[in-house]
Amino acid sequence: MCGIVGYIGPRNAGDIVVGGLQRVEYRGYDSAGVAVYEPTAGLQLRRSVGKLINLVTHLREQPVVGSVGIGHTRWATHGGVTENNAHPHRDQSGEIVVIQNGIVENYLELKGRLLEQGHTLHSQTDTEIIAHLVGNYYREHGSLEQAVRSALGELRGGNAVVAFSLREPERLVAARLGNAGGVVIGLGAGEHFVASDMPAILDHTRHMLFLEDRELAVITRERVQISTLAGEPVERAPVTMTWDPVAAARGDYKHFMQKEIYEQPRALMDVLRGRIDQEAGAVYLEDLTLSDAELRNVDRIYAVACGTAWHAALICKFMIEALAQVRVEVDYGSEFRYRQPLLNERTLLLAISQSGETVDTLAAMEEARSQQVPGVAIVNAIGSQAARVADGGPIYLHAGPEIGVASTKCFTNMLVAGYLFALRLAQARNTLTPAQIREHVQALIELPRKAAQVLERAEAQCEMLTEYYYHAGNALYLGRQVNYPIALEGALKLKEISYIHAEGYPAGEMKHGPIALIDDTLPVLCIAPRDGIYAKMLSNIEQVKARGGHVIAIASEGDTLLPDKVDHVIHIPETSPLLTPVLTVIPLQLLAYQIAVRRGCDVDQPRNLAKSVTVE
Ligand code: AGP
Repeated sequence: MCGIVGYIGPRNAGDIVVGGLQRVEYRGYDSAGVAVYEPTAGLQLRRSVGKLINLVTHLREQPVVGSVGIGHTRWATHGGVTENNAHPHRDQSGEIVVIQNGIVENYLELKGRLLEQGHTLHSQTDTEIIAHLVGNYYREHGSLEQAVRSALGELRGGNAVVAFSLREPERLVAARLGNAGGVVIGLGAGEHFVASDMPAILDHTRHMLFLEDRELAVITRERVQISTLAGEPVERAPVTMTWDPVAAARGDYKHFMQKEIYEQPRALMDVLRGRIDQEAGAVYLEDLTLSDAELRNVDRIYAVACGTAWHAALICKFMIEALAQVRVEVDYGSEFRYRQPLLNERTLLLAISQSGETVDTLAAMEEARSQQVPGVAIVNAIGSQAARVADGGPIYLHAGPEIGVASTKCFTNMLVAGYLFALRLAQARNTLTPAQIREHVQALIELPRKAAQVLERAEAQCEMLTEYYYHAGNALYLGRQVNYPIALEGALKLKEISYIHAEGYPAGEMKHGPIALIDDTLPVLCIAPRDGIYAKMLSNIEQVKARGGHVIAIASEGDTLLPDKVDHVIHIPETSPLLTPVLTVIPLQLLAYQIAVRRGCDVDQPRNLAKSVTVE
């Protein structure tokens, strides 16, 4: 999704804005631009198509000067990938510039009105419509703040906007409508920053303010004033981020994804820290606002998410139903609100999202809130929209910044967060005794070390497997019960970063269709830990081998039966059955990563993908 950065202060705005855009490159984009102002040079606009390096080259050839500016990386929604469509966009007078993240759903209606008024539009973007609307209202109000307020009052759809006028060079005006992606304001001494997300400005400050839906901020060198779009003043305390900018840097890893795969043991420790009491056999979720009585009242949970987070939701269903005996329905964020879900006073919504800004998941949360159904959010980004609108409280992943578009450490932390939530529910509903919870807590405590063991063992094996399979045209992933979603996740990892078509399937379903795919060109990844349905997995593996398929099995250490039946085995340590997915997914992450690298793919920024999908 689009990246937004703005700066006002004593320093070089062009450097700070471009540097911020580089920090959020992972958001996915196809063009970029900056606008910087200085009294003598005036308003200077530079825009380029393609990667940010093209804009940097453009700025080297035609530098900008000034200490106030805005910049943008665009992920095309309305209009093709051209310089003309790149942001920032200007109004009719050319004195106002605007950058935007989101979609103006009524843009055609607004465009028709502007054309009737004689406006000349130079792009096919909805953003330019916003700029012209602001310009219209500026002529009416003579104030940028009021002009932005009025212009946004006409927009439908989720939008984040930052505007600047050369008639009011001492301020930037930022505003947020709906869930188009965050607006975070960084607080400095005699300088302020605004961005779509924190890594863009973490190098300069850790003190942040977050705009909520339908809020506007006037940002000068000395002050930040927040108000509602209706004009009511808003008092908001800043949040101090603990994320160290260095932690967000790649370190000595080749890719962010590689770093984040290897960070999983530490991330698994962090998601547990302070939340388990082995002696008492108890679990604490510090930010959960629901009382034991409210947790006991719940008789159905809707777990809603997208992509990898949806796979985590499928696994949370197993955990919550087995440990807390509460029925769980799992739904895609993009489907939930359109199917009139049957919610009532005993329903709870469980949203799962690493970014906390996925528009479909946020819309599901809004749908639940509109029916007075409380929501809990399993989320990584502190202060994100999902974290703030979850009236049942956030359950933070504490995974640190996840920069690679393909989610890895946040996924395994989602599984543990879901397990903790299941135990917390079980504790409130007395479906487990403290002694039983103590056993589960022990299994959790051992998990980080076991994840580290898998990483140690699987790295070399996945390197060897990569040479066998990096040129494959297709791949099939099979798993059962709590590891069926891992088959889906393993397939998603491979396809989203190596562009090899891959499908995940319940192993028992293979004979109802996918078995027709089996031949000696097809690698089949079978997740077969020693659990209650191990024998069933074994017979599925034999069915694949009988048809000449290549089988790579993820098996429990000490399993001597499987190696004779398959082509390759990657062993994982034993753990509690419901926690095996935390370990079985790791070799699949590594394999997808190594195959993508071997194929020369852009691992951290795969084509067409964005880290946070803030448009429908
Ligand atoms: C996962 O590797 C993908 N990047 C994508 O499916 C992602 O999980 C999905 O867009 C949901 O993102 P969220 O967790 O930030 O809501």
